[in-house]
Amino acid sequence: MELTFQKTASLKGAVTIPGDKSISHRSVMFGSLAKGDTRITNFLQGADCLSTIACFRNMGIDIENENDSVVVHGKGLHGLSKPEGILDVGNSGTTMRLMSGILAGQDFSCELIGDASIQKRPMGRIMKPLTEMGADIISIRNNGCAPLAIHGQQLKGIHYHSPVASAQVKSCVLLAGLYADGITSVTEPALSRNHTELMLSSFGADIKSEGLTASVHPDPMLIGQDITVPGDISSAAYFIVAALMVPGSELYIRNVGINPTRDGILRVCKAMGADIRMENVRTAGGEPVADLIVSSGSLHGTVIEGDIIPTLIDEIPVIAVLAAYADGETIIRNAEELKVKESNRLNIMVENLSAMGADIEGTSDGMIIRGGKPLHGVTVETHMDHRIAMSFVIASLIAEGTTTIRDADIVNVSYPNFYQDLERLK
Ligand code: S3P
Repeated sequence: MELTFQKTASLKGAVTIPGDKSISHRSVMFGSLAKGDTRITNFLQGADCLSTIACFRNMGIDIENENDSVVVHGKGLHGLSKPEGILDVGNSGTTMRLMSGILAGQDFSCELIGDASIQKRPMGRIMKPLTEMGADIISIRNNGCAPLAIHGQQLKGIHYHSPVASAQVKSCVLLAGLYADGITSVTEPALSRNHTELMLSSFGADIKSEGLTASVHPDPMLIGQDITVPGDISSAAYFIVAALMVPGSELYIRNVGINPTRDGILRVCKAMGADIRMENVRTAGGEPVADLIVSSGSLHGTVIEGDIIPTLIDEIPVIAVLAAYADGETIIRNAEELKVKESNRLNIMVENLSAMGADIEGTSDGMIIRGGKPLHGVTVETHMDHRIAMSFVIASLIAEGTTTIRDADIVNVSYPNFYQDLERLK
Protein backbone atom coordinates (compact mmCIF):
# COMPACT_ATOMS: atom_id res chain seq x y z
CA MET A 1 0.00 0.00 0.00
CA GLU A 2 1.25 3.47 -0.97
CA LEU A 3 -0.08 6.65 0.71
CA THR A 4 0.46 10.31 -0.17
CA PHE A 5 0.60 13.27 2.21
CA GLN A 6 0.64 17.06 1.86
CA LYS A 7 1.80 19.88 4.08
CA THR A 8 -0.86 20.50 6.70
CA ALA A 9 -2.38 23.44 8.55
CA SER A 10 -2.31 23.35 12.36
CA LEU A 11 -3.01 20.12 14.27
CA LYS A 12 -5.52 20.44 17.10
CA GLY A 13 -7.34 18.13 19.47
CA ALA A 14 -6.73 15.12 21.66
CA VAL A 15 -5.31 11.70 20.89
CA THR A 16 -5.16 8.61 23.11
CA ILE A 17 -1.98 6.63 22.66
CA PRO A 18 -2.23 2.85 22.15
CA GLY A 19 -0.59 0.42 24.56
CA ASP A 20 3.17 0.17 24.94
CA LYS A 21 4.71 -2.47 22.68
CA SER A 22 7.48 -3.56 25.07
CA ILE A 23 5.08 -3.85 28.01
CA SER A 24 2.41 -5.67 25.94
CA HIS A 25 4.95 -8.34 24.88
CA ARG A 26 6.12 -8.86 28.43
CA SER A 27 2.58 -9.08 29.85
CA VAL A 28 1.81 -12.07 27.58
CA MET A 29 5.17 -13.77 28.16
CA PHE A 30 5.18 -13.40 31.95
CA GLY A 31 1.45 -14.18 32.13
CA SER A 32 2.16 -17.45 30.31
CA LEU A 33 4.86 -18.36 32.87
CA ALA A 34 2.66 -17.45 35.86
CA LYS A 35 0.12 -19.63 37.64
CA GLY A 36 -3.44 -18.45 37.10
CA ASP A 37 -4.95 -15.74 34.93
CA THR A 38 -3.33 -12.50 33.79
CA ARG A 39 -5.82 -9.88 32.57
CA ILE A 40 -4.29 -7.27 30.31
CA THR A 41 -6.10 -4.01 29.51
CA ASN A 42 -5.02 -1.67 26.67
CA PHE A 43 -2.91 -4.44 25.11
CA LEU A 44 -1.31 -3.24 21.85
CA GLN A 45 -2.99 -5.06 18.97
CA GLY A 46 0.04 -4.49 16.71
CA ALA A 47 1.47 -7.24 14.54
CA ASP A 48 4.54 -7.66 16.77
CA CYS A 49 2.53 -8.32 19.93
CA LEU A 50 0.14 -10.61 18.04
CA SER A 51 3.23 -12.64 17.05
CA THR A 52 4.02 -13.09 20.75
CA ILE A 53 0.46 -14.27 21.44
CA ALA A 54 0.65 -16.74 18.52
CA CYS A 55 3.96 -18.18 19.75
CA PHE A 56 2.74 -18.76 23.31
CA ARG A 57 -0.56 -20.23 22.06
CA ASN A 58 1.58 -22.59 20.01
CA MET A 59 3.29 -23.65 23.25
CA GLY A 60 -0.01 -24.68 24.79
CA ILE A 61 -1.06 -21.46 26.54
CA ASP A 62 -4.73 -20.53 26.24
CA ILE A 63 -4.90 -16.79 25.45
CA GLU A 64 -8.17 -14.95 24.86
CA ASN A 65 -7.97 -11.72 22.89
CA GLU A 66 -11.12 -9.66 22.47
CA ASN A 67 -11.73 -5.90 22.33
CA ASP A 68 -8.27 -4.79 23.44
CA SER A 69 -8.49 -6.99 26.49
CA VAL A 70 -6.34 -10.08 26.71
CA VAL A 71 -6.60 -12.90 29.24
CA VAL A 72 -3.64 -15.27 29.53
CA HIS A 73 -4.39 -18.56 31.29
CA GLY A 74 -0.86 -19.15 32.57
CA LYS A 75 0.44 -22.60 33.39
CA GLY A 76 3.42 -21.71 35.58
CA LEU A 77 7.17 -21.60 34.96
CA HIS A 78 7.28 -25.21 33.72
CA GLY A 79 3.93 -25.25 31.90
CA LEU A 80 4.99 -24.61 28.29
CA SER A 81 4.81 -27.50 25.84
CA LYS A 82 6.83 -28.22 22.70
CA PRO A 83 5.40 -26.11 19.85
CA GLU A 84 3.98 -27.54 16.64
CA GLY A 85 6.35 -26.64 13.79
CA ILE A 86 8.54 -23.53 13.85
CA LEU A 87 7.85 -20.52 16.12
CA ASP A 88 7.40 -17.49 13.84
CA VAL A 89 8.14 -14.10 15.43
CA GLY A 90 7.32 -12.09 12.28
CA ASN A 91 9.09 -8.69 12.46
CA SER A 92 9.52 -8.74 16.25
CA GLY A 93 13.03 -8.63 17.72
CA THR A 94 11.58 -8.47 21.24
CA THR A 95 9.68 -11.73 20.70
CA MET A 96 12.71 -13.51 19.30
CA ARG A 97 15.25 -12.35 21.86
CA LEU A 98 13.14 -12.55 25.03
CA MET A 99 11.53 -15.84 24.06
CA SER A 100 14.96 -17.37 23.36
CA GLY A 101 15.88 -16.79 27.00
CA ILE A 102 12.75 -18.64 28.10
CA LEU A 103 13.19 -21.45 25.56
CA ALA A 104 16.83 -22.07 26.54
CA GLY A 105 15.66 -23.53 29.87
CA GLN A 106 12.75 -25.72 28.70
CA ASP A 107 12.73 -29.51 28.49
CA PHE A 108 12.04 -29.48 24.73
CA SER A 109 13.72 -28.37 21.50
CA CYS A 110 12.35 -25.90 18.98
CA GLU A 111 13.19 -23.58 16.10
CA LEU A 112 12.53 -19.87 15.71
CA ILE A 113 12.12 -17.94 12.48
CA GLY A 114 10.92 -14.48 11.44
CA ASP A 115 10.57 -12.21 8.42
CA ALA A 116 13.35 -11.00 6.08
CA SER A 117 14.27 -8.10 8.42
CA ILE A 118 14.57 -10.26 11.52
CA GLN A 119 16.76 -12.73 9.63
CA LYS A 120 19.34 -9.94 9.20
CA ARG A 121 19.41 -8.80 12.84
CA PRO A 122 22.22 -9.91 15.17
CA MET A 123 21.36 -12.81 17.46
CA GLY A 124 25.00 -13.41 18.54
CA ARG A 125 24.34 -10.87 21.31
CA ILE A 126 21.93 -13.31 22.98
CA MET A 127 23.59 -16.54 21.85
CA LYS A 128 26.82 -15.60 23.66
CA PRO A 129 25.42 -15.13 27.20
CA LEU A 130 22.93 -17.98 26.80
CA THR A 131 25.77 -20.31 25.73
CA GLU A 132 27.75 -19.21 28.82
CA MET A 133 24.73 -20.27 30.87
CA GLY A 134 24.92 -23.74 29.32
CA ALA A 135 22.25 -23.24 26.67
CA ASP A 136 22.32 -25.13 23.39
CA ILE A 137 21.40 -22.44 20.86
CA ILE A 138 22.59 -22.29 17.26
CA SER A 139 22.12 -20.07 14.25
CA ILE A 140 20.92 -22.62 11.67
CA ARG A 141 22.66 -20.83 8.76
CA ASN A 142 25.69 -20.23 10.97
CA ASN A 143 25.59 -16.47 10.32
CA GLY A 144 24.72 -15.24 13.82
CA CYS A 145 21.13 -14.56 12.74
CA ALA A 146 17.77 -16.35 12.76
CA PRO A 147 16.57 -18.98 12.13
CA LEU A 148 17.68 -20.33 15.52
CA ALA A 149 17.50 -23.85 16.95
CA ILE A 150 17.28 -24.17 20.72
CA HIS A 151 17.58 -27.45 22.60
CA GLY A 152 16.41 -26.76 26.15
CA GLN A 153 18.95 -27.46 28.93
CA GLN A 154 19.43 -27.04 32.67
CA LEU A 155 21.06 -23.60 32.85
CA LYS A 156 23.58 -22.14 35.27
CA GLY A 157 23.50 -18.66 36.78
CA ILE A 158 26.10 -16.21 35.44
CA HIS A 159 27.10 -12.62 35.87
CA TYR A 160 27.01 -11.13 32.39
CA HIS A 161 28.66 -7.83 31.40
CA SER A 162 26.71 -6.85 28.32
CA PRO A 163 28.69 -4.85 25.76
CA VAL A 164 25.46 -3.14 24.60
CA ALA A 165 22.77 -1.22 26.49
CA SER A 166 19.97 -3.44 25.23
CA ALA A 167 16.79 -4.30 27.12
CA GLN A 168 16.30 -7.27 24.82
CA VAL A 169 19.69 -8.74 25.76
CA LYS A 170 19.22 -7.93 29.46
CA SER A 171 15.70 -9.39 29.50
CA CYS A 172 16.75 -12.52 27.59
CA VAL A 173 19.46 -13.32 30.15
CA LEU A 174 17.22 -12.53 33.15
CA LEU A 175 14.44 -14.74 31.77
CA ALA A 176 16.90 -17.60 31.22
CA GLY A 177 17.94 -16.91 34.83
CA LEU A 178 14.48 -18.03 35.98
CA TYR A 179 15.57 -21.54 34.87
CA ALA A 180 19.17 -21.38 36.20
CA ASP A 181 20.71 -23.11 39.21
CA GLY A 182 21.68 -19.88 40.98
CA ILE A 183 21.49 -16.09 40.79
CA THR A 184 21.85 -14.52 37.32
CA SER A 185 22.84 -10.89 36.90
CA VAL A 186 23.39 -8.54 33.99
CA THR A 187 25.43 -5.34 34.03
CA GLU A 188 24.95 -3.01 31.09
CA PRO A 189 27.01 0.01 29.95
CA ALA A 190 24.02 2.37 30.34
CA LEU A 191 20.56 1.73 31.71
CA SER A 192 18.13 0.36 29.12
CA ARG A 193 14.34 0.16 29.59
CA ASN A 194 13.49 -1.64 32.83
CA HIS A 195 10.02 -3.04 32.09
CA THR A 196 11.17 -6.62 32.62
CA GLU A 197 12.53 -5.83 36.08
CA LEU A 198 9.38 -3.92 37.13
CA MET A 199 6.88 -6.44 35.76
CA LEU A 200 8.66 -9.64 36.81
CA SER A 201 8.83 -8.23 40.33
CA SER A 202 5.07 -7.57 40.32
CA PHE A 203 4.50 -11.21 39.23
CA GLY A 204 6.45 -12.30 42.34
CA ALA A 205 10.01 -12.86 41.07
CA ASP A 206 12.93 -12.01 43.34
CA ILE A 207 14.57 -9.46 41.05
CA LYS A 208 16.67 -6.47 42.06
CA SER A 209 18.25 -3.52 40.27
CA GLU A 210 21.24 -1.66 41.61
CA GLY A 211 22.71 0.96 39.34
CA LEU A 212 23.49 -0.72 36.03
CA THR A 213 23.08 -4.29 37.36
CA ALA A 214 19.88 -6.35 37.53
CA SER A 215 19.87 -9.74 39.31
CA VAL A 216 17.26 -12.48 39.48
CA HIS A 217 16.87 -15.58 41.66
CA PRO A 218 15.79 -18.78 39.90
CA ASP A 219 12.59 -20.76 40.18
CA PRO A 220 10.15 -18.17 41.50
CA MET A 221 6.45 -18.82 41.94
CA LEU A 222 4.97 -16.33 39.47
CA ILE A 223 1.31 -15.43 40.04
CA GLY A 224 -1.05 -14.03 37.36
CA GLN A 225 -1.67 -10.27 37.56
CA ASP A 226 -4.08 -7.59 36.30
CA ILE A 227 -2.07 -5.26 34.07
CA THR A 228 -3.13 -1.96 32.51
CA VAL A 229 -0.64 -1.23 29.75
CA PRO A 230 0.38 2.45 29.60
CA GLY A 231 0.37 4.28 26.25
CA ASP A 232 3.56 3.87 24.24
CA ILE A 233 5.82 6.94 24.38
CA SER A 234 7.46 5.64 21.19
CA SER A 235 4.08 6.03 19.43
CA ALA A 236 3.34 9.35 21.18
CA ALA A 237 6.67 10.61 19.80
CA TYR A 238 5.18 11.10 16.30
CA PHE A 239 2.44 13.40 17.62
CA ILE A 240 4.82 15.21 19.96
CA VAL A 241 7.10 16.08 17.04
CA ALA A 242 4.17 16.93 14.73
CA ALA A 243 2.66 19.31 17.31
CA LEU A 244 6.03 21.02 17.88
CA MET A 245 6.71 21.58 14.17
CA VAL A 246 3.38 22.38 12.51
CA PRO A 247 2.69 26.11 13.11
CA GLY A 248 -0.30 26.93 15.32
CA SER A 249 -0.68 23.36 16.65
CA GLU A 250 -1.70 22.28 20.14
CA LEU A 251 -2.26 18.60 20.96
CA TYR A 252 -3.46 16.91 24.12
CA ILE A 253 -1.77 13.50 24.12
CA ARG A 254 -3.42 11.18 26.64
CA ASN A 255 -2.02 8.21 28.48
CA VAL A 256 1.71 8.40 27.75
CA GLY A 257 4.13 6.13 29.64
CA ILE A 258 6.89 8.33 31.11
CA ASN A 259 9.15 5.71 32.68
CA PRO A 260 12.54 7.49 33.12
CA THR A 261 14.24 4.71 31.09
CA ARG A 262 12.00 5.74 28.14
CA ASP A 263 11.46 9.49 28.46
CA GLY A 264 14.60 10.74 26.70
CA ILE A 265 12.56 12.30 23.92
CA LEU A 266 10.83 14.62 26.39
CA ARG A 267 14.17 15.72 27.83
CA VAL A 268 15.61 16.33 24.34
CA CYS A 269 12.56 18.30 23.16
CA LYS A 270 12.76 20.49 26.26
CA ALA A 271 16.50 21.05 25.69
CA MET A 272 15.56 22.22 22.17
CA GLY A 273 13.17 24.78 23.68
CA ALA A 274 9.90 22.83 23.31
CA ASP A 275 6.66 23.75 25.08
CA ILE A 276 5.53 20.43 26.63
CA ARG A 277 3.40 20.36 29.77
CA MET A 278 2.43 17.32 31.80
CA GLU A 279 -0.90 16.67 33.53
CA ASN A 280 -2.48 13.85 35.56
CA VAL A 281 0.76 12.11 36.44
CA ARG A 282 -0.31 8.67 37.70
CA THR A 283 0.66 5.00 37.72
CA ALA A 284 -0.62 2.28 35.34
CA GLY A 285 0.62 -1.30 35.42
CA GLY A 286 3.37 -0.27 37.87
CA GLU A 287 4.63 2.34 35.38
CA PRO A 288 4.42 6.16 35.52
CA VAL A 289 1.96 7.68 33.03
CA ALA A 290 0.86 11.26 32.19
CA ASP A 291 -1.11 13.32 29.70
CA LEU A 292 0.96 15.74 27.63
CA ILE A 293 0.04 19.13 26.20
CA VAL A 294 2.34 19.99 23.32
CA SER A 295 2.35 23.32 21.44
CA SER A 296 4.28 24.45 18.38
CA GLY A 297 7.07 26.99 18.58
CA SER A 298 10.58 27.76 17.48
CA LEU A 299 13.24 25.23 18.47
CA HIS A 300 17.02 25.13 18.41
CA GLY A 301 19.55 22.33 17.91
CA THR A 302 21.11 20.24 20.67
CA VAL A 303 23.61 17.47 21.33
CA ILE A 304 22.21 13.97 22.04
CA GLU A 305 24.78 11.47 23.30
CA GLY A 306 25.81 9.10 26.07
CA ASP A 307 23.46 7.62 28.66
CA ILE A 308 20.34 9.29 27.24
CA ILE A 309 20.61 7.26 23.99
CA PRO A 310 18.98 4.02 25.27
CA THR A 311 16.09 6.08 26.70
CA LEU A 312 15.14 7.37 23.24
CA ILE A 313 16.63 4.77 20.91
CA ASP A 314 13.41 4.09 18.96
CA GLU A 315 12.59 7.81 18.73
CA ILE A 316 15.83 8.90 17.01
CA PRO A 317 14.30 8.74 13.49
CA VAL A 318 11.53 11.19 14.39
CA ILE A 319 13.94 13.28 16.51
CA ALA A 320 16.06 13.61 13.34
CA VAL A 321 12.98 15.05 11.60
CA LEU A 322 12.54 17.52 14.46
CA ALA A 323 16.22 18.47 14.24
CA ALA A 324 15.80 19.17 10.51
CA TYR A 325 13.04 21.65 11.45
CA ALA A 326 14.88 23.28 14.40
CA ASP A 327 17.29 26.18 13.91
CA GLY A 328 20.99 25.38 14.16
CA GLU A 329 22.97 22.19 14.54
CA THR A 330 21.92 18.96 16.22
CA ILE A 331 24.55 16.28 16.79
CA ILE A 332 23.57 12.68 17.63
CA ARG A 333 26.40 10.44 18.88
CA ASN A 334 26.71 6.92 20.37
CA ALA A 335 23.69 5.71 18.39
CA GLU A 336 25.36 2.91 16.39
CA GLU A 337 22.61 0.52 17.60
CA LEU A 338 20.32 2.22 15.08
CA LYS A 339 22.13 0.33 12.32
CA VAL A 340 20.76 -3.01 13.56
CA LYS A 341 17.10 -2.15 14.17
CA GLU A 342 14.26 -3.21 11.85
CA SER A 343 16.37 -1.46 9.17
CA ASN A 344 19.62 0.51 9.15
CA ARG A 345 17.87 3.56 10.53
CA LEU A 346 20.96 5.78 10.44
CA ASN A 347 21.52 5.36 6.70
CA ILE A 348 17.85 5.49 5.81
CA MET A 349 17.17 8.68 7.77
CA VAL A 350 20.16 10.40 6.18
CA GLU A 351 19.17 9.22 2.69
CA ASN A 352 15.50 10.21 2.87
CA LEU A 353 15.90 13.47 4.81
CA SER A 354 18.65 14.59 2.37
CA ALA A 355 16.30 13.79 -0.53
CA MET A 356 13.70 16.06 1.13
CA GLY A 357 16.22 18.93 1.21
CA ALA A 358 17.57 18.66 4.76
CA ASP A 359 21.21 19.38 5.53
CA ILE A 360 22.12 16.07 7.20
CA GLU A 361 25.31 14.05 7.33
CA GLY A 362 25.76 10.51 8.62
CA THR A 363 28.65 9.77 10.99
CA SER A 364 29.99 6.42 12.20
CA ASP A 365 27.70 6.47 15.26
CA GLY A 366 25.04 9.04 14.55
CA MET A 367 24.34 12.13 12.47
CA ILE A 368 24.84 15.87 12.23
CA ILE A 369 21.80 17.86 11.17
CA ARG A 370 21.91 21.58 10.33
CA GLY A 371 18.25 22.42 10.70
CA GLY A 372 16.01 25.11 9.29
CA LYS A 373 16.23 24.21 5.57
CA PRO A 374 12.80 23.96 3.89
CA LEU A 375 11.71 20.37 3.18
CA HIS A 376 9.96 19.16 0.02
CA GLY A 377 8.01 15.98 -0.64
CA VAL A 378 9.67 12.88 -2.15
CA THR A 379 8.89 9.18 -2.47
CA VAL A 380 10.07 7.46 0.71
CA GLU A 381 11.23 3.84 0.73
CA THR A 382 10.37 2.59 4.22
CA HIS A 383 12.49 -0.58 3.93
CA MET A 384 9.55 -2.24 5.69
CA ASP A 385 10.39 -0.34 8.89
CA HIS A 386 7.36 1.00 10.80
CA ARG A 387 9.30 3.81 12.49
CA ILE A 388 10.78 5.03 9.20
CA ALA A 389 7.27 5.14 7.69
CA MET A 390 5.78 7.12 10.60
CA SER A 391 8.77 9.50 10.82
CA PHE A 392 8.38 10.51 7.17
CA VAL A 393 4.62 10.91 7.46
CA ILE A 394 5.43 13.47 10.17
CA ALA A 395 8.11 15.11 7.99
CA SER A 396 5.53 15.39 5.17
CA LEU A 397 3.36 17.62 7.36
CA ILE A 398 5.88 20.48 6.98
CA ALA A 399 7.15 19.63 3.46
CA GLU A 400 6.12 21.48 0.28
CA GLY A 401 4.48 19.24 -2.33
CA THR A 402 3.55 15.58 -2.11
CA THR A 403 5.29 12.96 0.02
CA THR A 404 4.63 9.35 -0.98
CA ILE A 405 5.15 6.62 1.62
CA ARG A 406 5.81 3.18 0.13
CA ASP A 407 4.59 0.09 2.05
CA ALA A 408 2.65 2.43 4.32
CA ASP A 409 0.79 -0.44 6.01
CA ILE A 410 4.01 -1.44 7.81
CA VAL A 411 2.81 0.86 10.63
CA ASN A 412 0.60 -2.10 11.69
CA VAL A 413 3.68 -3.48 13.45
CA SER A 414 3.35 -0.99 16.31
CA TYR A 415 0.48 1.44 15.59
CA PRO A 416 -2.38 0.03 13.48
CA ASN A 417 -4.56 3.20 13.84
CA PHE A 418 -1.76 5.69 13.18
CA TYR A 419 -3.21 7.18 9.98
CA GLN A 420 -6.75 7.46 11.37
CA ASP A 421 -5.48 9.11 14.57
CA LEU A 422 -3.43 11.62 12.56
CA GLU A 423 -6.29 12.49 10.17
CA ARG A 424 -8.59 13.31 13.10
CA LEU A 425 -6.13 15.96 14.32
CA LYS A 426 -5.85 17.80 10.98
C1 S3P B 1 12.89 -3.31 23.26
C2 S3P B 1 14.20 -2.90 23.39
C3 S3P B 1 14.91 -2.07 22.40
C4 S3P B 1 13.93 -1.37 21.46
C5 S3P B 1 12.87 -2.30 20.95
C6 S3P B 1 12.07 -2.89 22.11
C7 S3P B 1 12.28 -4.16 24.30
O1 S3P B 1 15.74 -2.91 21.61
O2 S3P B 1 14.63 -0.80 20.37
O3 S3P B 1 11.99 -1.62 20.08
O4 S3P B 1 11.06 -4.33 24.30
O5 S3P B 1 13.03 -4.67 25.14
P1 S3P B 1 17.25 -3.25 22.05
O6 S3P B 1 17.21 -4.09 23.25
O7 S3P B 1 17.82 -3.97 20.86
O8 S3P B 1 17.91 -1.92 22.28
